[in-house]
Amino acid sequence: MPEKGMIKVTDGFERIVHWMLAGSCILLFITGLGMMYRELNFIGNLMGGLVALKYVHNFTGLLFIVSLVLAARMWWHEAGKFSMPEDLEWMMCAGGYLWHVEKVPEIGKYNPGQKMFFLTVIGCGALMGVTGLVMWFPVGLSLGFVRWMYPLHALGFVVFFAFFFVHLYLGTIGNPGTVMAMIDGWATKAWAKKQHPKWLKEMEESGKLEVYGEETKEAASH
Ligand code: HEM
Repeated sequence: MPEKGMIKVTDGFERIVHWMLAGSCILLFITGLGMMYRELNFIGNLMGGLVALKYVHNFTGLLFIVSLVLAARMWWHEAGKFSMPEDLEWMMCAGGYLWHVEKVPEIGKYNPGQKMFFLTVIGCGALMGVTGLVMWFPVGLSLGFVRWMYPLHALGFVVFFAFFFVHLYLGTIGNPGTVMAMIDGWATKAWAKKQHPKWLKEMEESGKLEVYGEETKEAASH
């Protein structure tokens, strides 16, 4: 339950899209690994056999593609574009994550590391979607072209899998309080001041900041 004074950092739609993306992505990892490695074929047995496993993987892939398109539209404005010079300055000091930095440059809703993750998700996700669809429906395409889809799909997976664990760590225990963006959408002001200082200032100045137990300044002025 949020406490008085907490601020809204994500809305319901954002959390649903995020969970659709995360859920489909995790199920694709599990079912994909189940098909790839003989030692993990038991995952198929749990789902009714290897043919069923393939169908679960393929149809989850369709849900992933839909979630990816929604996520790209939803986050493009805040995570798809770098804003200079603060993003460059943030990168020069690695956001204070790797060594002590007296004053970390103030960045907007997402930091350059998160923006790079977002762009990797979009790029790799599109690669996974396209290569997956071509493997599923190779109709009318040359065998040489279709064959390329297999190593590209595996390469995309390796990148995605590695980035996923970094994201999981940074979104949970690496930055305490952050996971609330995915759960109920309410976070403390102190967290936002540390993680998204420029965004917090902009939201406060525009009167759009939603504070638990208070009316937004924008609504109060009407
Ligand atoms: C259950 C696992 C996951 C957890 C706990 C998690 C956690 C989070 C959190 C807390 C945020 C907000 C960060 C902030 O406001 O500072 C976030 C943002 C985001 N998440 Fe996840 N996430 C998960 C899975 C995924 C997956 C699988 C993907 C992609 C396929 C993904 C893509 C994103 C993107 C693109 C953003 C927005 C920008 C960014 O942080 O790069 N998440 N995640």
